[in-house]
Amino acid sequence: MKACNDALMCPEIEGALWRIYRDFFDAAERKRRWRIREDVPWNECNPNLDPAIADVVESFTAVELYLPDYVSKVLPLARNSMGRSWFYANWGYEESKHSLVLTDWLLKSGHRTEEYMHDLERKVFEREWNLPLGDSLGMLMYAMVQELATFLNYRNLKQRVIAKGGDPALEQILTFVSVDEKAHYGIFKEFIELFMQVDRDLVLAALRPSLNQFQMPAIHDLLDDNKRRITQIRDLEVFNEEIFMRDVYYYITNALGVTKAEMKGPRVKKSLAGV
Ligand SMILES: [Fe+2]
Ligand SMILES: [Fe+2]
Repeated sequence: MKACNDALMCPEIEGALWRIYRDFFDAAERKRRWRIREDVPWNECNPNLDPAIADVVESFTAVELYLPDYVSKVLPLARNSMGRSWFYANWGYEESKHSLVLTDWLLKSGHRTEEYMHDLERKVFEREWNLPLGDSLGMLMYAMVQELATFLNYRNLKQRVIAKGGDPALEQILTFVSVDEKAHYGIFKEFIELFMQVDRDLVLAALRPSLNQFQMPAIHDLLDDNKRRITQIRDLEVFNEEIFMRDVYYYITNALGVTKAEMKGPRVKKSLAGV
């Protein structure tokens, strides 16, 4: 594919982006739609499940509740691209179901009360999540990494639920949500592979900070009790540094065919660096 002045704005690339989005959307409509009220066995919630699991579900719900910031701040960056704008609109719909279904489980299982959840929502909306990066390519990288990490969090949490006695309702929810998150990772990866065909160095420069300075959104900087929340996630071995390196860092660099040397970045000659 030919290089363009602006790697994200060529008509040729925009056409390819749009085809990726339409395939993603058509596949989602065919295979991945689920209904909160009808498709979860709500009468099989387990009120006796380990409270540590419910605490982690609450933390993930809070992260999902920042949806208004995620959508409203990223859409302006994608305003000039139909493929990316339509994707973010569909993505927002899918993400909106995640906080709804997790909140429903916390209530129906008896692990949280209505008052508690209203209080949590109020606290979330008191604080604002801001874009960690100001450019659209950087945000695509950030999102790809976050979506894969989020998929792993939900998938691993489901495994802990099963190991701790099970909860068929929560297990079904975590299956639906983790499949959505893996699909989100997949389309961001396809977008990025497309850009790599045009300007590999530009993409690598945007990939390095997303992988080298990874943090879970909101948990680290916005939520109350963030240290306790992170410790609970680690204690259950839902997510930690080892899982990140193996299942996110190396998984993504392998998937994109990026070498260790490329992840270190270009060497700056001493004479040119002025040292
Ligand atoms: Fe989500
Ligand atoms: Fe997602």
